Amino acid sequence: MAEKGDVREQILALKKERDAVILAHNYQIDEVQDIADIVGDSLELARAAASLDATVIVFCGVDFMAETAAILSPEKTVLLPAANACCPMADMVTAGELEVLRGQYPHAAVVAYVNTSAEVKAASDICCTSANAVKIVESLSESQVIMVPDRNLARYVARFTTKEILPWDGYCLVHERFTPKDIQRARARHPGAEVLVHPECRPEVIDAADHVFSTSGMIRHACASPAEEFIIGTEIGILHQFSLQCPEKHCYPLSSRAVCVNMKKTNLTKVATALDKMAPQVRVPEEIAAPARKAIERMLAVR
Ligand code: 13P
Ligand code: SF4
Repeated sequence: MAEKGDVREQILALKKERDAVILAHNYQIDEVQDIADIVGDSLELARAAASLDATVIVFCGVDFMAETAAILSPEKTVLLPAANACCPMADMVTAGELEVLRGQYPHAAVVAYVNTSAEVKAASDICCTSANAVKIVESLSESQVIMVPDRNLARYVARFTTKEILPWDGYCLVHERFTPKDIQRARARHPGAEVLVHPECRPEVIDAADHVFSTSGMIRHACASPAEEFIIGTEIGILHQFSLQCPEKHCYPLSSRAVCVNMKKTNLTKVATALDKMAPQVRVPEEIAAPARKAIERMLAVR
């Protein structure tokens, strides 16, 4: 088997040859984050995919993220090195189920979290991410808003708006497992540390935390804050970016068991193989991509 250094060299050479850029989500394993051109949260990666000048995008993340890139940049080849990396929460709602709900609430706007299939995005009015969900909902003229699929993100948004929020009943298995007791225990071990959690956490966990941010929002907050210690309530892969971007801060996982197995399916060998074989490619048929693009671009236009 090739050494890690050799695989890195191989990736860098292939990247040049293919005119490729590597995008990686904050939850990827350390060496994948280290070889990426851009590491970020869903919103940052979607913006990058829309604006990058490259022939090929290698998406180190899960399928809905690569689909979003393919929808935004149909002229580019999008590779997903771990073809089976999915988001179980994204699969908790289908376009057919959403259409039924829309029929029940004909005056409601539909906001699809980017953690959805291309078909669900196509059946929605606008997308959102964890970084902009409140702003997106507030940008709508409708007073009733269906939010799919994350019930926790929907309930979080409901705290900041007078609109009626109708949440779908999906959830992220990784974030759903955090409890207020985890926060109590972590605070006892690190008194004085600020607790930062993701909006995919349950409402009682959000109540027990100090701040709620998207993954990159947590990093920006920690880097800018005068506080020196942080307890991080999200997937543990993010700790690598804290150590790179604010090495002087002490960051502890809220739970070391908070691992998204799908985010861990990508490794350097798969990235090298994807660039070599130009597969697996992610493509979205234009009849689905066109309405999905409208919903994503409408989101990107909200500043
Ligand atoms: P972010 O957009 O905050 O990076 O979140 C993506 C995700 O899948 C969280 O579980
Ligand atoms: Fe999906 Fe949760 Fe994994 Fe994020 S952490 S990709 S929401 S399963």
